[in-house]
Amino acid sequence: MTTKRVLVAYGSKHGSTAGIADEIGRALRDDGFDTDVRPADTVTDVRDYDGVVLGGALYAGHWNGEARRCARRNAEQLRHRPVWLFSSGPVDSSAEQRDIPPVRGVARRMKQLGAREHVTFGGALTADNPDLVARAMVRHGKGGDFRDPARIRAWAHRIGDALGETG
Ligand SMILES: Cc1cc2nc3c(=O)[nH]c(=O)nc-3n(C[C@H](O)[C@H](O)[C@H](O)COP(=O)(O)O)c2cc1C
Repeated sequence: MTTKRVLVAYGSKHGSTAGIADEIGRALRDDGFDTDVRPADTVTDVRDYDGVVLGGALYAGHWNGEARRCARRNAEQLRHRPVWLFSSGPVDSSAEQRDIPPVRGVARRMKQLGAREHVTFGGALTADNPDLVARAMVRHGKGGDFRDPARIRAWAHRIGDALGETG
């Protein structure tokens, strides 16, 4: 049996969503998948992949534009393979405490692509962020790193299980 190939694509403005994508990639590699982790804006063809995970940071209630455009650009191919979506955002523990549904645009995209599942992970906002607004938020106590590696890995292993069962 040939090794299945998985793409983990991400739209990240300041790097924390890229970190989540890397964690997912590591977990899928541990599960034996040939896994690429790539910025969403570099993805123009997903035909080589048996499954795709696409994630984006949330800004003002919207999914990162690069993730959005990646989904749109590759929609036809994505519809024909298993797809999982994730969002990263809340800079508090809310994402750990309850399932946060996708924002409206992402919910619509899920339907269009026939995505299997969506999850919202906690995000990160730290003082080294180059964005002035972000740094002001940190100064006002709205910062921190709320990414939960164990939860991210658990989700990735579920994807691995599901992919292992397909064709
Ligand atoms: C200006 C600004 C707006 C944000 N808006 C949201 C939002 O609407 N919903 C949310 O959950 N998180 C929001 N966040 C938090 C980011 O999604 C979080 O910091 C995320 O980890 C950023 O990902 P990135 O480092 O990959 O760009 C916002 C952060 C900033 C700086």
